[in-house]
Amino acid sequence: MKGSDVVIKDVCKSFGDFRALNNVSLKIDKGEFFSLLGPSGCGKTTLLRIIAGFESPDDRVLTFDGTDVLPLPPNRRQANTVFQNYALFPHLTVFENVAFPLRIKKIPTAVIIPKVKDYLTLVQLEGHAHKKPNQLSGGQKQRVAIARALINEPQVLLLDEPLSALDAKLRQHMLIELDQIHDKIGITFIYVTHDQQEALSVSDRIAVMNAGDVLQIGTPHEIYESPGTDFVAKFIGETNLFDATVARVLKLEKLDVNGDTEYMADLDIPELGRVKVTTIDMLQLGQKVSWTVRPEKILISKDRPATNREDINLFKGSVDEPIYSGFQTKFYVKIRDDIMIRVIKQHAKYSDEGPDIIWKDEVFISWSAADGYIVEVKS
Ligand SMILES: Nc1ncnc2c1ncn2[C@@H]1O[C@H](COP(=O)(O)OP(=O)(O)OP(=O)(O)O)[C@@H](O)[C@H]1O
Ligand SMILES: [Mg+2]
Repeated sequence: MKGSDVVIKDVCKSFGDFRALNNVSLKIDKGEFFSLLGPSGCGKTTLLRIIAGFESPDDRVLTFDGTDVLPLPPNRRQANTVFQNYALFPHLTVFENVAFPLRIKKIPTAVIIPKVKDYLTLVQLEGHAHKKPNQLSGGQKQRVAIARALINEPQVLLLDEPLSALDAKLRQHMLIELDQIHDKIGITFIYVTHDQQEALSVSDRIAVMNAGDVLQIGTPHEIYESPGTDFVAKFIGETNLFDATVARVLKLEKLDVNGDTEYMADLDIPELGRVKVTTIDMLQLGQKVSWTVRPEKILISKDRPATNREDINLFKGSVDEPIYSGFQTKFYVKIRDDIMIRVIKQHAKYSDEGPDIIWKDEVFISWSAADGYIVEVKS
């Protein structure tokens, strides 16, 4: 695998009295597509700027392949950055913008020409070499910035919300291209975004940040299906999240897929009633926990589902607000006056009854105990 591994240990950063990063530790593997994901102001750019060398941490360790890079200025680190606003030179052509890092190094033009051509091909801009940045679309400008950041063959590419200036469709397209470029050149990518869909769809692993802290590091699947904190559960995707009290615990005969002992717990949720959940946590009666079920794991129907399985949670409610978006409908189902459960129904078949469930319909919602998840054990 190409690229450097990047190790960040106990990095703190304050601006005056304000603590922007709190003991951040990460180990990013060689060649990994690693994302820093979190809401605005959580410290993502600050961390990226520290890795790039534009900002120095208060106290800390930062290594690339085991070598301390903190004493090195940005241009001596094997990392290049792609910024949100492209930062292209307006008076230079596409070709010269991409060639710029090589010109600074006084590399002969005969070497530069084929190399720039290769990188323009990599980002699919072969026919645009002679244009100036103001003759390019947003997506094309960003590709120039990516080619320019890659032409020095860095070990690490740092990307700070590189797609945020593009419209949604182009963003999707560029994201796929970025993933393909990563596959082709194989170096380490550190990608900053506050868009969870973006992070989930391209990353090998994600670090979820909030208020200067790294809350959880994991694969997209781990972060989505097994959020470690209430914040992560709410920030990644949409969910139904409740505080609950453990009312009953039963050890199950079968082990779960990883061979761990599984329990069936009954939870008391004041707003909802009793909910069954399977868990590998050793819960105690009376313990306070938070519990979640994702909207797409809930079935919705006008007829009572024909099941008498022990592990099914079944509630009745009325549809408050159906939001149809072609491939799916999102429903807010009112269980009690101010308690809504979000449900997403995918329209996998043409005959799906999705759009037929309408505002104010009485419906049944159900999900199995295994589809809920205990997020935090609080006491
Ligand atoms: N040079 C600075 N001086 C003072 N405060 C700063 C400075 N740079 C960043 N901050 C503060 O540190 C916090 C983290 O900023 P940062 O730019 O890292 O956030 P971010 O996660 O990248 O947010 P966004 O998604 O909006 O880009 C913010 O509250 C910001 O106001
Ligand atoms: Mg930022």
